[in-house]
Amino acid sequence: ALPIVILLLACREGAEDGLVAPLGAVPLVDVDPDPDAIEVSVIAAPASWAFLPGKPAEVWAYRDGNAEDAAARVPGPMLLGKLGDRVTVHFRNELPEPTTVHWHGLKVPARHDGSNVSQTPVAPGEGFTYEFTLTDAGLFWFHPHVEADAQIERGLYAPIVVRGADEVPVDAERVLVLDDVKLESSGLLSPTITSLDLMVGRQGNVLLVNGESQPRVEARAGARERWRLLNTANGTFFNVALAGRSLRVIGWDGGLLARPYEVEALVIAPGERYDVLVELGGAAGDAIELQTRHYDRGHDLPDPGPRRLATFALQAPVKAPAPALPTRWGEVAALPITDATPRRSIRLGEQAAAGPADEPRFSINDEQYPAVTPLAIGAEALEIWEIENGAEMDHPFHVHGVFFQVLDQPHLGWKDTVNVPRDATVRIAARFDNPGTWMYHCHILEHAERGMMGVLRVG
Ligand code: C2O
Ligand code: CU
Repeated sequence: ALPIVILLLACREGAEDGLVAPLGAVPLVDVDPDPDAIEVSVIAAPASWAFLPGKPAEVWAYRDGNAEDAAARVPGPMLLGKLGDRVTVHFRNELPEPTTVHWHGLKVPARHDGSNVSQTPVAPGEGFTYEFTLTDAGLFWFHPHVEADAQIERGLYAPIVVRGADEVPVDAERVLVLDDVKLESSGLLSPTITSLDLMVGRQGNVLLVNGESQPRVEARAGARERWRLLNTANGTFFNVALAGRSLRVIGWDGGLLARPYEVEALVIAPGERYDVLVELGGAAGDAIELQTRHYDRGHDLPDPGPRRLATFALQAPVKAPAPALPTRWGEVAALPITDATPRRSIRLGEQAAAGPADEPRFSINDEQYPAVTPLAIGAEALEIWEIENGAEMDHPFHVHGVFFQVLDQPHLGWKDTVNVPRDATVRIAARFDNPGTWMYHCHILEHAERGMMGVLRVG
């Protein structure tokens, strides 16, 4: 589908309503001429990437095996497709350790899910071909699922955009991948992992948008933009706000919501995605700051005050206002929950390190991965999960292979990752229609790698 995608991007950019990729969200080159098929090549390898201008760091990153320049980047090149496309990814591991590629949020066949239980990790020098069909429109991402805390932190993550048939009319569409990274003054990744990092997830000292610190982004004054936001941080929560303007949330993890809603600030937990519309009213020369505000995710972390993520520098205004917004959004039907719907309770727990040489441990129903008893779920079963967090910090809960609805809140949409605040219970409902062996875990990667992860067997 290569020529089509490039043409589409080119003419949409010309028409000022395309996917603007100014910050490194470069699509993977598709070598399949079939417009409904995508064939790409992804290589994971040690590379150099300057998070700070002029200060290259040694990272691990994805690069496009089919691109002429083939430079690795952080985030990695984007997988861009449309609903119904068949995707083939030829993956090669040039890292010094085994890895896998997990397609976070995509409903792939279980054996192509790239998790700890779906395949033997790809050894250094080896490859694996992942095959799946794009069944849902939205923003997703790919990343390793072995030693995920270390490998993702070193730079292995990339966005996936799947377009639907009728997308919202906008002047520009951007993918904004949020992350943080701990850098030394040289610009190199700090090798130091503190006990606080192990407890709350690695805490960076530099905030990143698409791999850059505080980028300046040009935008048209008066533009309506669609931003697809993704938090790839190991443990940092973002609480994004656009000085004095509201964000209209139109979608989240699994696609468009039944009905949009407006917020002043939006908490994005690790692993979550949000799709928002913003109106960049103002005049050429104005600068609008995208910032992250403090969100109290527990463990008494200090409030650093608002921090700048990026600056949107307004240029010459759009020629005409964007067309009217649709009156219908996502087609989402509420799952038919009744008092008879089976319930399952999942208790998240944490144990502080017992001694100075120890690490904290995290648990599910008082067991620690890999010793967490697998969940057995009937094919097509509809279940309610009551996720209880009695711990002293929030845990973003992620399930593979299925989308769920979050109960007891007003918005109707599909999610695969939901924040479970401390001392709270979040109820989710899902129809387990994708057979196979899957994983579920906290998306604070230090927690997942230290016990807070389990297996579910569907069908
Ligand atoms: Cu984003 Cu199991 O992972
Ligand atoms: Cu957690």
